[in-house]
Amino acid sequence: MCGIFGAVAERPVADVLVEGLRRLEYRGYDSAGVATLEQDGLRRVCAVGRVESLAGRVAAEQPRGNIGIAHTRWATHGRPNERNSHPHLAPGVAIVHNGIVENHRSLRAELSAQGCKLRSDTDTEVIPWLVSRRIAEGATVPAALREADRTLQGAYAVAALHEGTQDTMYGLRRGSPLVAAIGAGGGYLASDANALAGLADHAVCLEDGDLAKVSRDRLAVFDVNGNPVDRRVIHVDRNASVLDLDGYAHYMLKEIYEQPRVAGLINDRYQEQGVLSNFLPLPPQRIRRITMIACGTSYYAASVAKRWFEQLAHIRTDIEIASEYRYRPLPPAESGELAILISQSGETADTLACLHRLKAAGCATLGLVNVVHSSLARDADSFIPLLAGVENGVASTKAFIAQLMVLARLAVDIAGRRKTLGQGEILGALKSLDQLPSTIAATLHNETAVQALAESFQSARSALFVGRGALFPIALEGALKLKETSYIHAEGFPAGELKHGPIALIEEGTPVVALACSGELLDKTGSNIREIAARGARVTVVGDRAGILSLMDVAVGALTIPSCDELVQPIVATLPLQLLAYHVAVQRGVDVDRPRNLAKSVTVE
Ligand code: M6R
Repeated sequence: MCGIFGAVAERPVADVLVEGLRRLEYRGYDSAGVATLEQDGLRRVCAVGRVESLAGRVAAEQPRGNIGIAHTRWATHGRPNERNSHPHLAPGVAIVHNGIVENHRSLRAELSAQGCKLRSDTDTEVIPWLVSRRIAEGATVPAALREADRTLQGAYAVAALHEGTQDTMYGLRRGSPLVAAIGAGGGYLASDANALAGLADHAVCLEDGDLAKVSRDRLAVFDVNGNPVDRRVIHVDRNASVLDLDGYAHYMLKEIYEQPRVAGLINDRYQEQGVLSNFLPLPPQRIRRITMIACGTSYYAASVAKRWFEQLAHIRTDIEIASEYRYRPLPPAESGELAILISQSGETADTLACLHRLKAAGCATLGLVNVVHSSLARDADSFIPLLAGVENGVASTKAFIAQLMVLARLAVDIAGRRKTLGQGEILGALKSLDQLPSTIAATLHNETAVQALAESFQSARSALFVGRGALFPIALEGALKLKETSYIHAEGFPAGELKHGPIALIEEGTPVVALACSGELLDKTGSNIREIAARGARVTVVGDRAGILSLMDVAVGALTIPSCDELVQPIVATLPLQLLAYHVAVQRGVDVDRPRNLAKSVTVE
């Protein structure tokens, strides 16, 4: 979390810094700030809230420096106020930081005892003081940063300015992403290469322990031992116009409507039978067990796909929440174990920690990742790109659908190679996946009905989402979408589990979204729904024709999805839930793309 950006040019950089922050705002938006080096020293401008508040301040104060660093914050230590905003200053030094300094308490105590006047509540502020103090003792800026790197514990990416070095800024990476680049207009540092779109054509990806020196026309990277190194260079997509709304009111809505196109792309790219198996780090026939690891929405994609790998490819599959799994004692990896790590951003700290742990244990690892220049894509044995394009809304929508589609195709592919499905079954499954772009488009036509339903959620204090089988994880995803965008308390339950406790929550008028589609569990789901309807629940059914017909007598509302193969039902049933969350949030006046307390990319644990 937190986005950092730096620029050095032949002209004032304040505008470039603010634009860079706009592109990184998905990483956090509690406060934002810039520091520029002016003729009379370092100058800091900060504002609480979104980058646009900072833009107003910068326009009013007009910093003139040709070199500067900038930050958009997701608060970890200290409230989101101006005092805690980055950049943080110590005599002669300004620092922006993404990550967590775990030993900040002891460092703060030491620094304070030595007379340093730390002013904020943040973990970050110890960094400029450590660096400033060493420079005062005679160290060069790189040496002072290197020494800070040895002192700090935790994960961080840092950009630094020093008053004595007018034409150079510095970057340091340990655990959090950082890229550096030289473009026509100058030199840059950024948390994410997309922030450099239009500024540079290529970017260098720093590795852990690397220190970068960036001036207008020169970039040098040094490893932990101070040796100059060449690092991976990636292409920066000029058209990664991540800020373009294309006429939609919000990114979330735009991204929901991009889903037919994303589905088409996935079908085109992964159409050929067997093509996805080629991404696997071990032959499909040798896989004896799969463990899928992820967080949040990506975890729900894993929960759906577990059923596919078990049912179609006959492979025992476990699913794990990364923040738990990373600390669980692990038995030694056995041959034939495959770990699949799923992440939109590819930078989720817990998921990456699991990846590194599994690799160290000798497990074969596959990443499913949307951001192809991410750490997950780089560090996994192999990775499959999700092809969803830049996802800007904090609530994941199109990346989830892409995850499900790629996982479904992968399961069918592996099943084909292992011959656990006949050719007829494979062709049937592929046909339903091939038809998804139009099925998704047809489902999204239902938006007006969703909008009307959303109105009935306005006074709700709490809502339940229920489903069975592969629709249970979709109930969880529907509840997560609603709570994170509209701040209404929502929970997802397996419909069959209600009477083991959650049914006590049902009172007259409790809104319940019931997922019901044709299949062997439909009658069971129907009975569960009737039990809660009898106790006063206000049930809306999301399902295909058979599902809706079976519950018509107890439901107060229905959102119909096209009838489709059971394999793709969870994918299609997700769409009305995305639209529902979007409309409830907008009607409640929530900033749906930047809901409170959240960030798109969770780079701290
Ligand atoms: O980038 P990742 O897929 O690893 O992110 C995982 C979660 O943080 C993410 O899915 C989160 O739950 C979203 N806010 C859901 O909309």
